[in-house]
Amino acid sequence: MHLTHLSLADFRSYAQVDVALDPGVTAFVGPNGQGKTNLVEAVGYLATLGSHRVSSDAPLVRMGAERAVVRAAVRQGERRQLVELELNPGKANRARINRSSQVKPRDVLGIVRTVLFAPEDLALIKGDPGERRRFLDELITARTPRMAGVRSDYERVLKQRNTLLKSAALARRHGGRSMDLSTLDVWDQHLARAGAELLAQRLSLIAALQPLADKAYEQLAPGGGPVTLEYKPSAPGGAETRDDLFEQLMGALGGARKQEIERGVTLVGPHRDDLLIRLGRLPAKGYASHGESWSCALALRLASYDLLRAEDPWAPQHGPTPSAPPQEAAADASSTASTAPSAEGRRPGEPVLVLDDVFAELDARRRERLAELVAPGEQVLVTAAVDDDVPAVLTGRRYAVADGTVERI
Ligand SMILES: Nc1ncnc2c1ncn2[C@@H]1O[C@H](COP(=O)(O)OP(=O)(O)O)[C@@H](O)[C@H]1O
Ligand SMILES: [Mg+2]
Repeated sequence: MHLTHLSLADFRSYAQVDVALDPGVTAFVGPNGQGKTNLVEAVGYLATLGSHRVSSDAPLVRMGAERAVVRAAVRQGERRQLVELELNPGKANRARINRSSQVKPRDVLGIVRTVLFAPEDLALIKGDPGERRRFLDELITARTPRMAGVRSDYERVLKQRNTLLKSAALARRHGGRSMDLSTLDVWDQHLARAGAELLAQRLSLIAALQPLADKAYEQLAPGGGPVTLEYKPSAPGGAETRDDLFEQLMGALGGARKQEIERGVTLVGPHRDDLLIRLGRLPAKGYASHGESWSCALALRLASYDLLRAEDPWAPQHGPTPSAPPQEAAADASSTASTAPSAEGRRPGEPVLVLDDVFAELDARRRERLAELVAPGEQVLVTAAVDDDVPAVLTGRRYAVADGTVERI
């Protein structure tokens, strides 16, 4: 898929901007602080309903404005769609698809798909487990848009369960009567149900990603691998299916309950897990050099791209749905696998590649390798401070970004 038009109103530094886009490479060039990342951040927002830079919507709305609007025209083979999101910090965001407002923001997921490379990606390797969880969960949502609902269910249940545990902990500390904890049993069930579904998706994602990440690392930094990905659950036990994972989580919650009541917080579940990334025999975090960490982060993004381009988001759903009997899930998987490249020789679901200011961070060799790997993408959006930072193989349209304007050059 690719965007043919992007339009922003009161988004970040832009009062209003309209950008025509083509398939192939488009580079946005301009000095720092001029609004290049703001443009691609908006594209990423359409794909994930979030920013890769900030965790809340407020900074995305132009200072002094009340709401921001991000609108894009999307072309997917012969199909054209118009998607629009209105960001209302502190209130519910609104969405429109093909001018119909009978939709929720979450319904937009799956229409625009992106794989975004950014300087922030180094945190995938060097940062806290939360960075890696977000990487996994965003990719899960890109593969299977309905998982956005499961993720938000999990977050909501976790919050409520923590509130209950916190008041239980306070009551204990202040020597009050111990609370009636029977409601905790109910929350355990809810948490384990959503948690098991999320875990099953994470495990299958990691299995699919592993060979692709290793291959990508070898292409970027030959002989430097292998890269291995290993899930580190807070409730270990080796379960793989959703039902087994549910039992495993329930068991772990039971085992942790005393400690949870003492500490007033949920200690097991997907929100406490991590992804261990190894380079050779050593963990990348804490051991890999700066250059190796970069290659590793890029390899994870390239692997995401490989994975998403092989899957068709326009097919009804990926993976087994909660109610789907096994035969149906199998039929769904086979229809995904048989997705044929479209007339132009592109796969239908190919995501837009966004490379925000990454080339300046890389040495010449990695820069060239990365550029060669992304150049054939259906649509590649690149930002750079100077023209020389855009590798020669990435020829295409150029826009100059300066002081809130985006002009074709
Ligand atoms: N909500 C906002 N309202 C107004 N200006 C903003 C807002 N958020 C960011 N900016 C401005 O946008 C600029 C940064 O744009 P950015 O796209 O990150 O630059 P770059 O071209 O270096 O990628 C900064 O000057 C910042 O002040
Ligand atoms: Mg930038």
